[in-house]
Amino acid sequence: MSGLERVGAELCCDGVPLAEAAKRHGTPLFVYSRSVIEEAYLAYDRAFGAVPHRICYAVKANGNGAILRILAGLGAGADVVSGGELRAALRAGFPPERIVFAGVGKTEEELELALVEGIGEVNAESEEEIGRIAAAASRHRRRARVSLRVNPDIDARSHPYISTGLRENKFGVDIALAPEILRRARARDEIEIVGLQCHIGSQITDLQPLALAAREVAGLSRRLLAEGFALATIDLGGGLGVDYRGEGVPGPRALAERILPELRDLPLRLVLEPGRSLVAAAGTLLTRVLYVKENQGRRFVVVDAGMNELLRPSLYSAFHRIEPVCERHGPALRADVVGPVCETSDFLARDRDLVLPAPGELLAVRDAGAYAFAMSSTYNMRPRAAEVLVEEGALRLIRRRETFDDLVRTEV
Ligand code: LLP
Repeated sequence: MSGLERVGAELCCDGVPLAEAAKRHGTPLFVYSRSVIEEAYLAYDRAFGAVPHRICYAVKANGNGAILRILAGLGAGADVVSGGELRAALRAGFPPERIVFAGVGKTEEELELALVEGIGEVNAESEEEIGRIAAAASRHRRRARVSLRVNPDIDARSHPYISTGLRENKFGVDIALAPEILRRARARDEIEIVGLQCHIGSQITDLQPLALAAREVAGLSRRLLAEGFALATIDLGGGLGVDYRGEGVPGPRALAERILPELRDLPLRLVLEPGRSLVAAAGTLLTRVLYVKENQGRRFVVVDAGMNELLRPSLYSAFHRIEPVCERHGPALRADVVGPVCETSDFLARDRDLVLPAPGELLAVRDAGAYAFAMSSTYNMRPRAAEVLVEEGALRLIRRRETFDDLVRTEV
């Protein structure tokens, strides 16, 4: 479900014409559907309803406060990876105890903020980090709730840049070394070990690696419980992929069917950290065609959005469906859809068969709700795009477009 549908020739988001959004707020523009986000969260919540669970939204996918407030309001927790995300989550109303804090390079300041705010758990990624957490806890006379992120050496079979669960990756600790690390950590007064965490990668469409990871982490949790560790949670991270090509991919229910059997009888609360699968399909990037040109037999549709707004095609050769906002008929021709940035890697699509649009027309780039605005930049001194939310049939501006003054504001 994406919220997009054609009413006559016009592409609409939950009934609001995208052309209207572009007219009111300009392009490039991100348009998000509130109902699609809500439905995605509720699908997770229902799928795991049979066990105690907490769905902690991975804020990195899209940190806009309006989106965070929707998810906080539905009862979600938050998975944060920086002091900035932690503050954004608190500001949006996530109760501290529903926040988990991951990341390989947490600074002292970030750890202190997490402790002082009393968040649910810090996912430690090394024994050295546990030392830092203990030191910070002792300075603040608190006990820190810590989960250990383990690396189960499982291939997520996704893009290498977004796979995180292999031995050679920088994340977590070798699962074989985890028991010793935890025994030493348990001896520290300032540390309360609450569970294990793992996250093997992102855009995973094959459930087998996720089921395997669940089995490994559940197995170790059982051994630790038997040894007397007072574990409370098992956190299996995020990673469920979305349907960028419109071919059908497994959703939360299929995920639950594969991983819940691995956790049977484990007296622990299941924590999941989905990002993409909660917000990607809810977002559309609207862009306007500037030029259509041909170079040495290659056709280019030059649009006003590029790698600034959507880095995924450039960085991961990612595929996003692109379609005209106002339906066109004619022969499909092969073309690249490229942005205005001075880099050959600045493209939204390559070798796409499309009815060539005319300058001034609008294109919709689908599934741009996750890792799009969040990874946007001001490269080439291009102000960042605006974001709008469609709710109850109306458009609400949730981030105004940046201006040139914004770009130079921090210069001294
Ligand atoms: N938990 C941890 C510890 C993570 O590192 C991530 C994502 C998630 C949860 C959420 O994963 P998700 O459910 O969204 O797959 N920029 C890349 C994706 C990077 C994902 C990084 N970590 C992309 O655009 O494909």
